[in-house]
Amino acid sequence: MKNQASKSKRHIDPRVFYRPFIELFWGFKQNTLPTLFLAVWVALACLFLFTNADLWLLGKLELMVLYPSHDAIRGIYGFALLGSGHLFWGLHRTGVFLRFERKLKAALGSAGLQNRLGQYPKLIFDKPLDAHTRKLRLTRAHLPVKDFETKKPHLEASLKIYIDSIIERRENGTVDILYANKPMPKVQKFPPLECFEKCQFQVGQTRSRSIICSLKQTPHLLIAGQTGGGKSTALRQIITTLYLRNQGMEFLLVDLKAGLEFQIFEDLPRVTVPLSVDQVGKKLELAGETLTKRMELLKGEKVKDIDAYNKKLSGKKAKLLNRVVIVVDEAAELFLAGDHASASEIQKIRRTLSRIARQGRACGLHLIVATQRPDAKALDPQVKANLTGIISFPMANLPSSMTILGCGRAAELPPISGRAIYKNGLDMVELQTPFLSVSDAESLLESSRQQGKAKALQPQKNAAIKLHEAAAEVDFGE
Ligand SMILES: Nc1ncnc2c1ncn2[C@@H]1O[C@H](COP(=O)(O)OP(=O)(O)O)[C@@H](O)[C@H]1O
Ligand SMILES: [Mg+2]
Repeated sequence: MKNQASKSKRHIDPRVFYRPFIELFWGFKQNTLPTLFLAVWVALACLFLFTNADLWLLGKLELMVLYPSHDAIRGIYGFALLGSGHLFWGLHRTGVFLRFERKLKAALGSAGLQNRLGQYPKLIFDKPLDAHTRKLRLTRAHLPVKDFETKKPHLEASLKIYIDSIIERRENGTVDILYANKPMPKVQKFPPLECFEKCQFQVGQTRSRSIICSLKQTPHLLIAGQTGGGKSTALRQIITTLYLRNQGMEFLLVDLKAGLEFQIFEDLPRVTVPLSVDQVGKKLELAGETLTKRMELLKGEKVKDIDAYNKKLSGKKAKLLNRVVIVVDEAAELFLAGDHASASEIQKIRRTLSRIARQGRACGLHLIVATQRPDAKALDPQVKANLTGIISFPMANLPSSMTILGCGRAAELPPISGRAIYKNGLDMVELQTPFLSVSDAESLLESSRQQGKAKALQPQKNAAIKLHEAAAEVDFGE
């Protein structure tokens, strides 16, 4: 018995021999190698070799027999010495991996993630995605992915990790868990505008990475959540980024509840802020007409979208098309009839918005809708079905979260302003949305306002003016 015990104690996991190379491969591939450490190591090894310090050391230790006498072997020895830092790092990562695997087994056991046959999910791999996030792939052991979701807090506590998302890979019978070792920031600073290309804005920061959204890939957005979650703040920062980074982009900003949220944008060129349902109806009618005209233009030129149209016609003295973003805060005011609007008016608005949501993508008409209430009455189902990107701040209860995301994650968010779930297609991540205060937004917009005035005084037409004259252009002014 004693013999057996000592044998198992001496047992070395065979993965120690090949796993370091796998870790190195992933390190190279995902660019997560500790470059400073390795550079210092290689520099020291070079110094060691070129000053013959190895000869001196072996001489001192009376181990000269170990010194390679043949040139070729000396070459291999030198190469091995230079690469030994990489090997040590690979060994270190292997140790971390094997310890993590042991902890994972214990965590799955204590979380009760076990199927009726008594089987637990098995680790397939645990690899880095970037400097902070890792992906853990487990066999599902015939367990529904919902079980993993429910046990998320337990797994986080036992493994001392922060899980970003749990994704089922049904075709392989596996589950991917994206996690990081550090918590999410409670406040995320508004990033410098230079970070964004045309049509892009930051949705937020996960524990490990910045999530950028582009209207080209995600043409329409839904922003949901209880009062105080951060919907209007999110709209403010999205509009500010899009406005400042896209010359010529037009905005129709609708806030019928208080009408205060969009005050800071009111007197900007390219921005229209209607204040009554009647005005909103008229402006949306214009947008609907623009949609029809643009569809004819695209058809006439046999192109698939406005980017292709503008590319085809640029340099031909033709009028180019700009993008139009229609933003609705507190959407229930626009979808529910009441004292402020008749049922027929609301019906018309619903029809136009639904058409823009269905057909706007190719024509460069985008919808961003924020709402507290996710139900069919307060948000037209046809509009909702086409809002492919969803940012959900905390929801009051499970059914509301289910209506918005198809799962309960928005009801489980911590009560931190700006904390949200972002769903785009099948991907879902928890993130902290950037905070841009009213005064910061005003000062950012003020500088652009001044620049705009200065440019307008110059005799030549700038790009924005040219776009404004474009065919099938929306001119929301009276
Ligand atoms: N991303 C954020 N980071 C930090 N605080 C935020 C953030 N978004 C909102 N807040 C805070 O929460 C408050 C309510 O935000 P608001 O955007 O008005 O919520 P909603 O429109 O959902 O009611 C704001 O006054 C602000 O102080
Ligand atoms: Mg609000």
